Amino acid sequence: MIAKRSISLTVNGVRYEATVEPRLTLVDLLRNELGLTGTHVGCEHGVCGACTVLISGKAVRSCILLAVQADGADITTVEGLSPSGQLHPIQQAFQEQHGLQCGFCTPGFLLSVKELLADHPDPTDEQIKETLGGNICRCTGYQSIFAAVKCAARKLADPAAGALATGVAQVG
Ligand code: FES
Ligand code: FES
Repeated sequence: MIAKRSISLTVNGVRYEATVEPRLTLVDLLRNELGLTGTHVGCEHGVCGACTVLISGKAVRSCILLAVQADGADITTVEGLSPSGQLHPIQQAFQEQHGLQCGFCTPGFLLSVKELLADHPDPTDEQIKETLGGNICRCTGYQSIFAAVKCAARKLADPAAGALATGVAQVG
C-alpha cells in the first residue's frame, strides 16, 4: 500500500488540509474531497480544458496535476469568481453574449479568460483565439464565446461601458 501524504493548499481564499494518496488528481481532490464540483472533468488527459483552474493566477489543467503537486498552492476555481453570489464581470459577459449552451465547458473557459484578461486587459483577436483554442466547446461554435471575451474586457476596463455596449442596464 502506498503511503498517503498530508498536504495543505488554499482554494478560493480558504485554507484546506488533506491527507491524500499520491495518485489523486487535483480535480478529484477539488470535486470529491472539497465539494467544489464547479470544476468539470472531461477528457481526463489534458486536452479539453474543462478542468481548468488557476494556480497563482495561471491556468492549469487540474486533471493532469496531482494533488500532492499542488501542496502549498493558491488555487482559484470557478466558485471563487463569485464568492458573494454576484456574477463576476466575465460571467456576466458570457451570460449576456450567450457564450454558453450546455455549460459543461464554461468553468474552464471562464478561468482561461480570467488569466488572459489579467495578462492582457485589451487582448488582440489573435490572443483571444489562442486562449480559446485551449478549451473545447461542443455547443457554441466559439463565436459567442469570442464575443463574450470582448465584452468581458470592456466590462473590466469600464463596467458602465461594458453594460452600455451590450445594451444591459446596470442597477446599483
Ligand atoms: S478534463 Fe482536464 S483537460 Fe480535459
Ligand atoms: S457550452 Fe456545451 S460544451 Fe461548451
